[in-house]
Amino acid sequence: MSFDLVFFGGTGDLTWRKLMPSLFQAWRHGTLPADGRILAVARDDQNDDQYRQWLFERLLQAEEAKRPTEAEFNAFSQRVHYLRMDLSQAGDYQQLQQWLQHRNARTVVMYLATSPHLFPVICEQLGAAGLNHERVRVVLEKPLGHDLASAQAINRAVGAVFTEQQALRIDHYLGKPSVQNLMALRFGNVLFEPLWRRESIANIQITLAEGLGVGSRGDFYDRTGALRDMIQNHALQLLTMIAMEPPSSPDADAIRDEKLKVLRSLKPFDERSVVSDVVRGQYRAGAAAGQAVCGYLEEAKVPTNSRTETFVALRCEVQNWRWAGVPFYLRTGKRLAQRQAEIVVNFRALPHAIFPGRHLPNRLVIKLQPEDGLQLHLMASRGTGNHASGQAFEPLSPVSLDLDFDRAFSSERVGAYERMLLDALAGRLNLFVRSDEQEQAWRWVEPILEAWQGDELGPKPYNAGTWGPSAASALLTRDGFCWPEEA
Ligand code: BG6
Repeated sequence: MSFDLVFFGGTGDLTWRKLMPSLFQAWRHGTLPADGRILAVARDDQNDDQYRQWLFERLLQAEEAKRPTEAEFNAFSQRVHYLRMDLSQAGDYQQLQQWLQHRNARTVVMYLATSPHLFPVICEQLGAAGLNHERVRVVLEKPLGHDLASAQAINRAVGAVFTEQQALRIDHYLGKPSVQNLMALRFGNVLFEPLWRRESIANIQITLAEGLGVGSRGDFYDRTGALRDMIQNHALQLLTMIAMEPPSSPDADAIRDEKLKVLRSLKPFDERSVVSDVVRGQYRAGAAAGQAVCGYLEEAKVPTNSRTETFVALRCEVQNWRWAGVPFYLRTGKRLAQRQAEIVVNFRALPHAIFPGRHLPNRLVIKLQPEDGLQLHLMASRGTGNHASGQAFEPLSPVSLDLDFDRAFSSERVGAYERMLLDALAGRLNLFVRSDEQEQAWRWVEPILEAWQGDELGPKPYNAGTWGPSAASALLTRDGFCWPEEA
């Protein structure tokens, strides 16, 4: 399959940290179609060789196993080219058009790895240059807007030039092998489906915790905050995969229709429930991995009086027959105790106990990162024969069944961006987010953003290296539950 893959924002962080390294890995794995060119587009004045040298220096910053040797890079980079463009200049798109026409590849993917405020102008100019024909797809990086109105404006501008089938909205969490496994767990096995409902499940907790702070992205992050950066997209996408009904087919729209239904069933927030069910926090100085680290307000490019949240925990409900009354708790934050993404499904307590002692309810832990696996917590008898007098059974002990997907499938796994890029080239749409899903997610978080704007109190402080403000624990204790680390 011949392809041309164009990266707008060709010298940006995303391109050199994620996109190019992922393409390089795909090339190494032999999965990148052979007949394809990669074109980086940016404002700097440089030629192919200068760009390749710049890229090589950056790829060398990767972890050892992912670093290219000089010979590998030379072979890979034959396919990498550079074009200087001013994205507001129509003439520059003509140049791009000529560059592409030269070869007339079967598939052309325009990857917009720029700030989203440029998406409308880029799409408009691509359309004007005739670069929206049926062989072209456009990939849109998050954040897609900063609220519902801006997301709709972007979608309208993109929709005026490209069809929905051509517009691929990326949420890289959907490309993680662990998230693929979530679909496999639910729809490739019969075991859990009968239990996957309110009758058996007490609550579900989704944690996307990061150990790192905002690093060099202080200015971007301060305009964004944890709710827009992680909850509106990654966390809600995971929630849809947990809560959705089984789709009738593997078609992208069959899956996305079911995810949309979940988003539409989420109980809307109002001013009162934002106060009672949403906690926002901001990290103060503390320790991470044994090192003293500064607070958010001391980070580079962050205003010293910023009220941007670096932590969010919230309680929500999916209002349908399957899930009525089951709380879903979502939390995310920077500078938390450790990097850990997982989904915990807490089953209901035994209706009646014949064993003595404490009985922990069953728990299924879907580990997304850093480990990728499944843990099923059960109660078992140790068989010591050590019964207390008068008791028929010894007390049960908690044990767990552990499945480590990294070990089971180690040599075959690919990273999220690698997978998403290959899907974009092949036109596989089921891991991309449709505009109506994305707009519905904005519609749902918007009352929170509005309530926060008028709230004088601002985010609650938490020390770096902890699990966030104590109010996040209170959110669960109120319902008689706790986060996994408190169990
Ligand atoms: C990005 C956010 O979408 O996801 C970042 O903008 C965050 O702030 C990142 O660090 C987390 O992704 P991952 O794959 O490292 O969990």
